[in-house]
Amino acid sequence: MARPTTVFVCAACATESAKWHGQCPGCGAWNTLAEEARTKAAGGARGGRAAAGRPVKPVRLADVRAEGHARLSTGIGELDQILGGGLVPGSLVLIGGSPGIGKSTLTSMALGNLQGAGRRTLYVSGEESAAQIRLRAERLPGAALEVPVLAETDLDTVLATMDAERPEVCVVDSVQTLHAADLTGAAGSVGQVREVADRITRLAKARGIAVLLVGHVTKEGSLAGPRVLEHLVDCVLQFEGERERTYRTLRALKNRFGSTNDVGVFEMRQGGLVEVADASARFVGEATRAPGSVVLAAMEGSRPLLVEVQALVSPSELVPPRRVANGIDRNRLALVLAVLARHGGVGVGSADVFVNVAGGVRVDEPGADLAVALAVASAQRGVALGAGDSPVACFGEVGLTGELRSVGHPDRRMAEAAKFGLRPVIAPAGSGGAAVEVGTLRAALRAGLPASGRDAAPRAA
Ligand code: TYD
Ligand code: MG
Repeated sequence: MARPTTVFVCAACATESAKWHGQCPGCGAWNTLAEEARTKAAGGARGGRAAAGRPVKPVRLADVRAEGHARLSTGIGELDQILGGGLVPGSLVLIGGSPGIGKSTLTSMALGNLQGAGRRTLYVSGEESAAQIRLRAERLPGAALEVPVLAETDLDTVLATMDAERPEVCVVDSVQTLHAADLTGAAGSVGQVREVADRITRLAKARGIAVLLVGHVTKEGSLAGPRVLEHLVDCVLQFEGERERTYRTLRALKNRFGSTNDVGVFEMRQGGLVEVADASARFVGEATRAPGSVVLAAMEGSRPLLVEVQALVSPSELVPPRRVANGIDRNRLALVLAVLARHGGVGVGSADVFVNVAGGVRVDEPGADLAVALAVASAQRGVALGAGDSPVACFGEVGLTGELRSVGHPDRRMAEAAKFGLRPVIAPAGSGGAAVEVGTLRAALRAGLPASGRDAAPRAA
């Protein structure tokens, strides 16, 4: 006989309590208790008594039968690639992203393509009514209108329907809106989210249903959000970008069936999300040659990507002045500004500094330092980088003593810059190719800014 009960578990120390407390009785932390369902078998083994299970003979790994996974193509090349070649039957993929980024659009398109390819699909939505989902599907290509839809928030109903319909691929949009009736917490609370994901996982594995689980992540990193599910699912995809901007990136944070190196670039258009196959061409084409602009030869996972980094330095009345970073880490900006002032002879003093990666792309790698430094120096002096018509490209990490350090994959970065005719490419020593190799930030500034634009700062030896 199974008897469902609920307990409250502390997220910090895992202390269990029968009642909810504001403060954990175990570790004293506040607001860490979350409700969880427990199904205890009546009369089970208790305390120090030996467990009643029967031992099983472990199998040598070499004798384990492991068939190759037949992948299901979603019909969206970038998504398939990030998944490692398509969806694996019975796998759970969590797609996280802030509201409005395009999660429902992406998953609707994927299901439409799968349905069109003759797969059985199901779209479960706890967020929108069937009519709203239809309105979206009308704008999308493929067989999006053929997808069977269930607008429901009750977990038991959803599970029963999945079990009865036996889709090959199912979207659950979103994990925060489903509600397990045997838990009292509100939908979206940590306990509920975990329970919902856990029960869907068990059904998906048992029936071989590939599930795309949508989860909202707030800008702050999410409290009762999908982060708690990362260990449960096979694959975690993150959809990034800003709602107002057209470009979005999709990357894998975890993938049991593929690498986590690939990044897909999408553009939100009238007819849904469109893959941007050659993002570098797009970004270089849009790059200006104005003061404060430079092209960064970045690496997005294993893929080189050229993006424009822009800076604006303007007089400020604020104390302290503003330091605004979009698409790069704020702390990296502070560091680069400090090194520029101390070792590069470029002080921005009490001016406001804005740095932006064009197109709403986010670059999280130290190789972006040099681009930030060159863009800020060029903006501060009001002089465009380079001499010819082609935009200047660069990459490299800036060290605290003003040295330029090498970063990963210089060859791929150089090749990508060469493909689009960017020159010069200012890069750390050892980058090869046609790079203008420099050892220090000061030398990089000399290489990038034409002589007339250099100020009277003393030159390094
Ligand atoms: P949506 O997929 O609903 O975002 P999420 O599920 O992540 O909250 O849609 C995001 C935005 O995209 C929405 O504001 C409307 C817009 N959009 C388009 O611009 N074109 C389209 O074809 C569709 C379907 C949506
Ligand atoms: Mg949505």
